[in-house]
Amino acid sequence: MAGSLTDYLLLNYDRHALYDRPDWYDFDYIGYKAEAPFYHGVIERGMSEGQVFVELGAGSGRLLQDLLRAKVKCHAVEPNIHMLKACQKMARELSAIEVFSSECAKAHDFLGPPEDPVGFIAFPFNGLLHIHTLAELNEALQHVFQRLPPGGLFACDIMAPAWEVMEVGSVEWGRLDERVSPQTGEPVWTYDRCRFEPATHLMHSELRFIEEGASRGVELYYAQRMWTYQELLGALHHAGFGVEEIYGDVDFAAFDENSPRLLVLAQKPEG
Ligand SMILES: C[S@@+](CC[C@H](N)C(=O)[O-])C[C@H]1O[C@@H](n2cnc3c(N)ncnc32)[C@H](O)[C@@H]1O
Repeated sequence: MAGSLTDYLLLNYDRHALYDRPDWYDFDYIGYKAEAPFYHGVIERGMSEGQVFVELGAGSGRLLQDLLRAKVKCHAVEPNIHMLKACQKMARELSAIEVFSSECAKAHDFLGPPEDPVGFIAFPFNGLLHIHTLAELNEALQHVFQRLPPGGLFACDIMAPAWEVMEVGSVEWGRLDERVSPQTGEPVWTYDRCRFEPATHLMHSELRFIEEGASRGVELYYAQRMWTYQELLGALHHAGFGVEEIYGDVDFAAFDENSPRLLVLAQKPEG
């Protein structure tokens, strides 16, 4: 029987940075693959034989799973050691080690695959929101540009800035929702809150999980820079990319400035 939000607020929570807990990240997101057709489509039509797909901020390998199963050559770049280890474990479990390489690095300093040439680099699923300043965004995109061959492709997707929260400043604990634990089959309750910091444009979010009947839950925190679409498109242009395709949602809807997401495919000019 579910308690109320007031009941859950009285319980104790162990606090962790979101990406230090790949188990809880996967609990929340592993089944969500709505943006995969965008990235997989580019891999199918945009990469040549022998080239490698590089995922920046690959996390626990949510989007790499199906590619590794299909024996597409993949290189995972991930700065959080807990997420990276989860990703490497997943590649071993899929017996995909011969098509998989990885490194603990960030978008602005990764080396790339040790042997084969890069064809396509992606920074999916709001990964760019973890780059917090314009100087760092420019540095990262310029580094990506340098790592690509002429004609090489880069893609990313970000959500729209949370304008409503940004306007009011903060939203208190709420959005109580029920999930089911894959381990126990028991209900798990989740709720969250967030606070916008105007000086840095950072949205600080906290997310709680509490299993049915437990007296102690988990609290995860993370901060995302609320990039506007214009800022990201401007930084891509600044790095030298040309925009090839642009969509307003995961269903390939036409893009406009009120779109819920921006999915963009950019190309380094030939020659
Ligand atoms: C929203 S998760 C996405 C994970 C995975 N791509 C997916 O789709 O499930 C963002 C990931 O970016 C990583 N990250 C944070 N800062 C980064 C940076 N500067 N460069 C590359 N990755 C970064 C985080 O550690 C995290 O694993």
